[in-house]
Amino acid sequence: MLKVDGLVKIYHTDYGDVQAVKGVSFEVGDGEVVTLLGPSGCGKTTMLRCVAGLERPDGGDIFIDETPVFASGASANVATHNRPIAMVFQSYAIWPHMSVFENVAYPLRVGKQRFSKTEITARVHASLEMVRIPELASRSATMLSGGQQQRVAVARALVREPKLLLFDEPLSNLDAKLREEMRLEFKELFQRQHLSALYVTHDLLEALVLSDRIVVMNTGVIAQIGSPRDVYQAPRDQHVADFMGAGNVIDATVQSVDGERVTVDAGFGDIGGMSPGIAYAEGQQVIIAIRPEGMTMSRAASDGALEAVVQTGAFLGSSMEYLVAVGDHTLRVRTPPTTEQFDLDDKVFLTFYPDNAVVIPGAAA
Ligand SMILES: Nc1ncnc2c1ncn2[C@@H]1O[C@H](COP(=O)(O)OP(=O)(O)OP(=O)(O)O)[C@@H](O)[C@H]1O
Ligand SMILES: [Mg+2]
Repeated sequence: MLKVDGLVKIYHTDYGDVQAVKGVSFEVGDGEVVTLLGPSGCGKTTMLRCVAGLERPDGGDIFIDETPVFASGASANVATHNRPIAMVFQSYAIWPHMSVFENVAYPLRVGKQRFSKTEITARVHASLEMVRIPELASRSATMLSGGQQQRVAVARALVREPKLLLFDEPLSNLDAKLREEMRLEFKELFQRQHLSALYVTHDLLEALVLSDRIVVMNTGVIAQIGSPRDVYQAPRDQHVADFMGAGNVIDATVQSVDGERVTVDAGFGDIGGMSPGIAYAEGQQVIIAIRPEGMTMSRAASDGALEAVVQTGAFLGSSMEYLVAVGDHTLRVRTPPTTEQFDLDDKVFLTFYPDNAVVIPGAAA
């Protein structure tokens, strides 16, 4: 549905050129939801705006439904309103002087294509139905909660049945609880309506929940593309591992290799980790990324467990998080709140689980 090939975007500013997007390629299949995930300033919005035609790229090609909407030779540059897309922004951009119905009907009234009154009514109601607010049609748009405004914005995006939906951090302005609810509603909507979407977010959980595939970005380039499970369990570099909440990223040397299982010397002891799809050699310099929930902590010593000292502990509701010192390192450890509790300066023993650690090429930055 969308093909982006070698996209480049440079902003020319008073303080010099900013290479916001440095040659990025990816695709969104029919009925697929792809998220652009990455830290602030990595170029997510710029890419979305290039796809929407709101920004003119400096290189590369963009195809929507196999039609070139931008080609680097300037042989194509289709105007935004002629691209089969609709966009949903973080700031809902709902018009306060109109009713909900009129807000959603607006794209049908201004487009080139003419719609009859009955068709407009039918389409608006179908869209409001899809976002579960049919009862709000006649309400003034000033009398809506944040979540309702966001739903109106989505209904307005759906009303012309675009081939591709573009979302730029649509849930960022909502409070945590509502964001969680809307996340699941979006998921259901995407699946039920078989929508094709490119979805920008810097929120890991949002990307994991909503995506068929995640494009992890790092300052204008793609760090990794894969299914949520792939990028979460097999990050290709330290940037992706950090962004996936690896928690503990440690320099290490490969000790032994047994298929996809690798044992490394982390300085304070030997630890096992997974190496999905990469062959390592003994003695190789690597990074091991260990999830905070990838180890257990006990007062009792056991075989292979490493001794550590508790530095801090915090109650997080659904878990406990501790910082523990082991050798020269400080590790983050997350445990269920129902298990053994530990105090400052307690001597503990850490047991590592290889399935929750991943070995990555290179050295920790
Ligand atoms: N209109 C502009 N003029 C100059 N530089 C810009 C402009 N828009 C964005 N940039 C720069 O381009 C880079 C990418 O910005 P972009 O807005 O695409 O990032 P982002 O990933 O969407 O970040 P955020 O998560 O903060 O929204 C940044 O370095 C930014 O400062
Ligand atoms: Mg942005």
